[in-house]
Amino acid sequence: MQTPAGPWALRAGIVLVLGAVAVAAVVLLSGRHDEGVSSQGNAVSANRSEAHFRPVSRGPRPPVLGAAVDWELLRMPGTYQRLFLDHYRSLTPENAMKMDTIAPAADRLSFGDADALARWSRRHGIAVHGHTLVWGKQLPPWLTARSWTRDDLSSFLEGYVKTVVGRYRGRVDSWDVVNEPLAEDGSLRHNLWLRVLGPGYVSDALRWAHEADPGARLYVNDFNIEGRSPKTDGMHALLSRLRRERAPIDGVGLQTHLTLSSTPTGAQLRSTMRRYASLGLAVDISEMDVPAGRGRRAEAAQARVYRQVAGACQALPACGRFTTWGFTDASTWLGTGERPLPFTATGAPKPAWRAIESALNG
Ligand code: XIL
Repeated sequence: MQTPAGPWALRAGIVLVLGAVAVAAVVLLSGRHDEGVSSQGNAVSANRSEAHFRPVSRGPRPPVLGAAVDWELLRMPGTYQRLFLDHYRSLTPENAMKMDTIAPAADRLSFGDADALARWSRRHGIAVHGHTLVWGKQLPPWLTARSWTRDDLSSFLEGYVKTVVGRYRGRVDSWDVVNEPLAEDGSLRHNLWLRVLGPGYVSDALRWAHEADPGARLYVNDFNIEGRSPKTDGMHALLSRLRRERAPIDGVGLQTHLTLSSTPTGAQLRSTMRRYASLGLAVDISEMDVPAGRGRRAEAAQARVYRQVAGACQALPACGRFTTWGFTDASTWLGTGERPLPFTATGAPKPAWRAIESALNG
């Protein structure tokens, strides 16, 4: 931020910034935004001292099959929408509920796409997994450009989390409250939240989300935590700490962005998943994809990886949701040439699709 020279101007600059922060916090806490629907705000405070423990087993049912969706494509009738409705029961908005979409300016929240997606899902009986409240990436430029005090950033985030979760109370089933909190060495990843708020930001965010919707299932989500690695140990340590502190956490999302050459063995994957589950948490597959490119051999190898992961999820009662990051090769963050998903760009099932279907159903 540029500050005008001179003591008076400096003071005026500080007052302006504090004023803007206060306005942003009030706007967030009051749930004012650019849509006409009133926010349900941050009502109902749960008993914080109560141990947060909910049954995580899905029972005899197979895991729910989900996919991340591009709302711009899903909203239009066509192959993408039909394929999704024919096969999936849960969705994760790929971008529509990220902070840069919902908070495009300091004094304005924008819920247009998120609201439409929530309404559409409800109409079609699709569960919504909200993604994501607190992440070091896809932050709005106005937020990263500012220099924050701890108190100001903390009130901003509290207001943001409570407003967003409160708005979708009873409509978004579960949330990735914190996304990608860990570095590869298993320590907390350096990002704005850690730098300004310190390591307590993870449990604070969980508590705020729980206050705003005590019924929503709350997750921490990350990548490279499927095999044996320092990061997997770090995730286990983080989850253990959160459980000890009685933070309201329900589960861990394993993003499972794998490749054909670097995939944990089935035994490693199953033992990692059991280890997280032994903390009393749900252990979901949250963003799986496997770039394979073209050709029958590559597709067969890709199907084996999908089968292994879907099978590990099916075998563990704590694994309630198996979600891929997209579902047709026509729309993937990795680029269409990677062909990482279970349906072709024109919507035909690949060997990976058959593998997922049969593995999830045992
Ligand atoms: C990706 C989206 O798919 C892209 O459209 C966007 O440009 C960048 O983010 N891990 C996550 C997701 O948790 O939010 C990321 O989604 C993919 C990696």
